[in-house]
Amino acid sequence: MLGKFPLFAAVAALAAGPAAAQADAERRAYGKCIACHSLDGVGASRYGPDLRGVMGRQAGSNPQFKHFSPAMKASKVVWTAKTLDAFLASPATFIRGNRMVSPPIKDPAERQAIIRYLERHR
Ligand code: HEC
Repeated sequence: MLGKFPLFAAVAALAAGPAAAQADAERRAYGKCIACHSLDGVGASRYGPDLRGVMGRQAGSNPQFKHFSPAMKASKVVWTAKTLDAFLASPATFIRGNRMVSPPIKDPAERQAIIRYLERHR
C-alpha cells in the first residue's frame, strides 16, 4: 500500500508537468520585462507602465502612467498578440520615437511566451 503513494505522486506530477513547465517558461520570459514593468495593476510603480490588462488596450492610454512618450500616445496601436509580437521583435522601429529602451527579442517562441503571460494577467 505504501509503495503506491510515490507512484501516484509521480503520475500526478507528470499530469501537471507540461502545464506547470509552460507557466514557468512564461514567467521566466517575462523576467526580461519585470525590472521596468510591474504586473500588479498599479500604473506607475516602475520605470515603465504596469502591464496588467494591457492586452486589448490602446497604446499609451493607461491613465495611471504619466510618462508615455508622445509617439506612444499618438501611435493608435491596440495591443494584441500580433502588435505586441511586432513591438517586442523590434521595439525601436515598431513605434518610432517611443521611449522603451529594451533590446529586440529575436526568438519568436520567447515572444509568444511573454504574450501568453500577459494574456493570463488581464
Ligand atoms: C528598460 C525598461 C524597460 C524594459 C526592460 C521593458 N520596457 Fe516596455 N516600456 C518601457 C517604457 C519606458 C515604456 C513607455 C514607452 C513610451 O511611452 O514611449 C514601455 C512601454 C511598453 C508597452 C506599452 C504599454 C502601454 O500601455 O501602451 C508594452 C506593451 C511594453 N512596454 C512591453 C514590454 C515587454 C513585454 C517587455 C519585456 C520583453 C518590456 N516592455 C521591457 C520600459 C521598458
